[in-house]
Amino acid sequence: MSTKSFNLNINQKISPFKKKIEIDPDKSISIRSFLIGAISQNISINSNVLESEDVISTIECLKKLGVKIKKKSAKNYSVYGKGLGSLYIKKNMELNFGNSATAARLLIGILSTTPGIEIKIKGDKSLNKRSMKKLIELMSKFGATFLPKNKFTFPLKMISSEMPVAIKYNAGVSAQLKSAVIFAGLNAFGTTKILEQEKSRDHTENILLKNTKAIRIVNRGKKIIYIEGRKYLNPINLDVPGDPSSAAFFVALTLLNRRSSLTIKNVGLNETRIGFYKLLKKHGGKIIFKNLKRKDNEIRGDIFVRSCSLKPIKASKEYYVNSTDEYPILFVIAALTKGTSTFKGISDLANKESNRIKEMQKTLRQVGIKSKFSKDGLKIFGKGMINANNKKILIGDLGDHRICMATFILTLLTGAKTKIRNFETVYTSSPSFLKIMKKLGAKFEIQK
Ligand code: S3P
Repeated sequence: MSTKSFNLNINQKISPFKKKIEIDPDKSISIRSFLIGAISQNISINSNVLESEDVISTIECLKKLGVKIKKKSAKNYSVYGKGLGSLYIKKNMELNFGNSATAARLLIGILSTTPGIEIKIKGDKSLNKRSMKKLIELMSKFGATFLPKNKFTFPLKMISSEMPVAIKYNAGVSAQLKSAVIFAGLNAFGTTKILEQEKSRDHTENILLKNTKAIRIVNRGKKIIYIEGRKYLNPINLDVPGDPSSAAFFVALTLLNRRSSLTIKNVGLNETRIGFYKLLKKHGGKIIFKNLKRKDNEIRGDIFVRSCSLKPIKASKEYYVNSTDEYPILFVIAALTKGTSTFKGISDLANKESNRIKEMQKTLRQVGIKSKFSKDGLKIFGKGMINANNKKILIGDLGDHRICMATFILTLLTGAKTKIRNFETVYTSSPSFLKIMKKLGAKFEIQK
C-alpha cells in the first residue's frame, strides 16, 4: 500500500477508436483465492490474480496471520495453506485492510470463528467511514466480540469466539456479508444455513464447491447454502478471469463515443455480475458476448461492443445486486443519454468507498446535469451528448476508485476541464486503467 499519490488532469475529448484489449483480473475472485488458499490444506496455486492495492492488502494481512504466500511470476502465486482455524496473530497486533471492504468483511468472517484471536482492525480513511454494523451483528451471533460496544466503524478491536456455533442467515444484497457468514461457518460447530433472498455474486461458493463435505447448495426456487463446519478444505488451483466491473468503464466509453468499437478478451461473465451488460443491451446497447467457456466454475468470454445510441435507462431494483459496482458509470451513461433515467433500490450505494449517490450527483452537476434522489431512487435528467469544454470538474480525495474512473469517462466524452485528486486510488482495482486508456488514445496529464 505504497502507491504515491497523484492528481490527474484531463481536458480533451477522445477520438474514435477500434481496438482489442485485455482487462485487469477480477478483484472479488482474486481476494477470495488468497483467503480460501490460506484456510485450505497444502499448497494452492492462484494464477492470473489481480495485483492491485486491495489484493495486496489481503496478502499482507494473511502474511501477518502466519500464511506463507510466494509470488512465482507476474500474477501467479503459491499459497501455503494453514488449514481451518489455524491463522494466528499475537495479542493486540493490528490488521490494516486498506481501502478494501471485501478483504475486511471476509477476513473478519474467517477470524471470528478462529479461536484465540484478539486484534485491532482498521482501514484507510474511506474504509474507516463505512458501517460494519451488519457484519458485527452477524459475527456476534457466532460468538465474536467487537469493542468498543455500539461503535460500528473501524478502528475496532475484535475478539474471536472460543466456542463458535453455526447460525441461520437470510442473505440480502450483500455478497460480502454472505461470504463472511460462509467463512465463519466453515470453522463453527454444526451446520450454518444461508437462505438467499437475492442472487448476489457467488464466487465464494464457486471456489469452495469441490469440497462437498463442507458446502452443499440446494436450489429449490431460492438458493440455500449449507456449510458443514470443521471439515478440511482441499487446496485450490484457480485461474482468474478478467473483471467485468473494470471492463464496464471501457464498454461505456465505446458505446457513447463516435464510430468506435472494442473487443475485450477473457472477461468473467458470471450471471451474478452482468446486470450492467443486460441492462444496457435492453436499452439498445450494441454489446455481444463471444467465445463463452466455463473454467473453475466460472463462465468467461470476450465482449464485443460498438458505438450506438441508447434509450434512457430504467433500472428496476432487481438490477442492483448484479450491477452493484457499475452505478457510477451507469449514471454517466444516463447523463449523456437524452431523457430521464431512473435507478431504483440503490440506497446501499451510500455505504460504498464514498456515498456514490451524492458524489456522482455532485460530479454531474458540475457539467450542468440535473438529478434528483428520493426514497424511490435516483432520477437523472440526461441531456444527450453535451459539449462541456467550458465547464470544470473537480473531484476531491474521496478514496473511491469507481468515482474517479466514471469521471474520467465523462470527461473524455464531453471535453470538460477536469482535475481528479488522488487518482492513485484507481490502483485498488484497476492498475492497468491508464495504460489501456492511453492505448485507446486518451490524453491526460499526471500531476505528482
Ligand atoms: C463485493 C461485493 C460488493 C461490491 C464490492 C465487492 C465482493 O459489496 O460492491 O466491490 O467481492 O463480495 P457488497 O457485498 O457489500 O454489496
